[in-house]
This record gives sequence, structure tokens and C-alpha cells, in this order.
Amino acid sequence: MPAQTQPPQVGRWLWTCRAGFEPHLFEELAWAGMAPRLLGEALVESDSQPGLVPAFARAAWRVVASLPPGTPDVQADAAARAIVSLPGTAPWVLQSFTPDSPRGNTLAAVAEALEAAVRTRLPSERLLDDAARARESGARLVTLCVAPDGVTAVGAVSAREALSLAPGGRRRMRREVESPSRAAMKLEEALDGLAFEPGRGDVCVDLGAAPGGWTQRLVARGAKVVAVDPAKLMPELASNGRVKHIQESAFSYAPEEPADWLFCDMAWRPLEVAQLLAKWGRRGWASHLVANIKLPMKDKNPVLLRVRHTLVEEGGWEGLTVRQLYHDRDEVTVTAHRLR
Ligand SMILES: C[S@@+](CC[C@H](N)C(=O)[O-])C[C@H]1O[C@@H](n2cnc3c(N)ncnc32)[C@H](O)[C@@H]1O
Repeated sequence: MPAQTQPPQVGRWLWTCRAGFEPHLFEELAWAGMAPRLLGEALVESDSQPGLVPAFARAAWRVVASLPPGTPDVQADAAARAIVSLPGTAPWVLQSFTPDSPRGNTLAAVAEALEAAVRTRLPSERLLDDAARARESGARLVTLCVAPDGVTAVGAVSAREALSLAPGGRRRMRREVESPSRAAMKLEEALDGLAFEPGRGDVCVDLGAAPGGWTQRLVARGAKVVAVDPAKLMPELASNGRVKHIQESAFSYAPEEPADWLFCDMAWRPLEVAQLLAKWGRRGWASHLVANIKLPMKDKNPVLLRVRHTLVEEGGWEGLTVRQLYHDRDEVTVTAHRLR
């Protein structure tokens, strides 16, 4: 890690990740031949975007300007000039972020002020306020990165290619008061990234379900849930008519009939979990998969490679996505589907 944050180079790609995971993101980009460079906490730069989305990336942009230190007005003028000279007529969604690290987070107010100053300098008819509509509007995400050591940059990416529509990829989910565990937010974020989600009457199997955060969110959507976990569920779930608790190991459980969705948040060794999920795929026991894979080991990428290989080659799972979501810690979220 450089002692001081390095400014990104114009024309290259700027990536951000969870602080502490820069070496893993760097390694993924290096393996893909993208000539990465560590810029500082939560920031990595590369030549271009690899075909396979790096699991440890939260968001990425092509760098359109690297702003020298200056007064807020001078920086806002320079950022606005760079944005206005972007080719094309796509609407802009203007955002700002700071690296998600203790030092980066102290700059949140500076980033907000710069964003506000740049906004006033841009033609208002080009600005789209609602990031949720960015993809359907063919908009471009234009992002101001305000990092420690006076590093400020402007990046842009088409919303349709963007890894996340949230500033800096920080997709904060509202904490539901009735939700029994923090884990529920991981599920909400994972479902938010899918084209469709489980609904009324869908049969969901939840492996490693206790105490029941995921099961609760699925039941709230009207789904029927088979919750498999030797541990106890929250009492209100255990007595819910739409929840069947199978109090045994997921490794010995076999469904009576195929499910629509397979969920898995088991605290267990990743390669063994991948084998189990591959068995579900091979046997056609579920059509859609959402799984949280724990990666407590130091060398995460070699394990992830094997997890991917097992799910696709041995399980026949398709459309695999592997991402460390904002709410994921030492873990990644996998989604996939399989047509029965
Ligand atoms: C992180 S917690 C799951 C949290 C849950 N998704 C929620 O939202 O409340 C991990 C769970 O995996 C379960 N687990 C570990 N090994 C298991 C196995 N072989 N079969 C089923 N569950 C297992 C543990 O009992 C624990 O409840």
C-alpha cells in the first residue's frame, strides 16, 4: 500500500472496494492482465475492465480527470469542464464518494460540497436526479472521487455497465425493525441486484437459516420457506405456517420436491458448500440460487476460483455472479440460475 494516496491516471479505470480487500481486488485484476496499481485505501486502478467482473470490486469508472489540489471553486470548475466535454448526449447522474476507510470517511462533507458546487455548474437539463432510472434512461454515472492526501478525480461509466448505481458502490439497505438479524440486509442487497425476486407462493429452501433473517425476508414476500439448520429459529418464525423448519444438517437434507429458489448462508467451509450447491444444481433441485460464501482465509482468490468452477462445471449453474456486496464482510454473494 503506498504511504500516500496516488492520483489515478486519466483514461485508466478506477476501482473501489471494501477497505482491507485492495490486495484481493488487485490480484483479480492482475490475473486478468489489467496491469493494476494500488492507489491507496479502497482504491485500485487498472488498464481496462476485465470480461469477468472482479468479485471484490464495489464500483468502477473510467477516469476522465485527475484534479490538482486547489480551492473548492477551482476544483469544481475543472470537474465541470471535464464533464461537459464528455462525448455524447446521455443524461448524467452526478455522484460523489470517498474511499470507505476511516481516513476516507472523514472527507464525506468535502465530497458533498464539491458535488453540490459541480452540480450548479452543469446544464440542469442534462442532469438526472433519480439514479434508479439511470439504466432505463441510458444515463452515464459521473462520479467525483474525493480521497485522502488531496486526491480528487472525476470518473464516468455508462449506467448499463456500472457495477452499482449507488455512490461508491455503497448500497445501504434500510434496517428493518422487525428483522431478526443483520444478515437480512445482505439478502436484501443481493435481491436488489436481481432482475426478479421470489414472490407469493414460490418455494424457497434456506440452508443455514437460523436465526431466521433471510427466512423472515422471504416470508415477508409471500414465499413458502423450508428452513434447514440444526440451530433454532426465532419463535415467531418457528410457529409461522409458511415456514417449515428442518432441524438437521444441510449436507444430509434432500428436498421432497424441487424448489424455485435455493438460498444458502451456511457458516461452513466454502469448497464443501460449493459441492453441496453443485449437487442441488446437478439434481435440478432448484431454479435460482443466492448464496453467501464465507472466505475467512488469507488467500481468497484461489478458493473463489474453485468455488466458481465447482458451481458451473459440476453444478451446471448459469449466469453466475460473484460479488462482495456492501453488506458482506469476509464473504461474497453468489447468484445463478438453472433451467429445469
Ligand atoms: C450466518 S448464520 C445464518 C444467518 C441467517 N441467514 C439469518 O439470516 O439469520 C450461519 C448458520 O449456518 C448454520 N450452519 C452451519 N453448518 C450447517 C449445516 N451443516 N447445515 C445447516 N446449517 C448449518 C449455523 O447453524 C448458523 O445458524
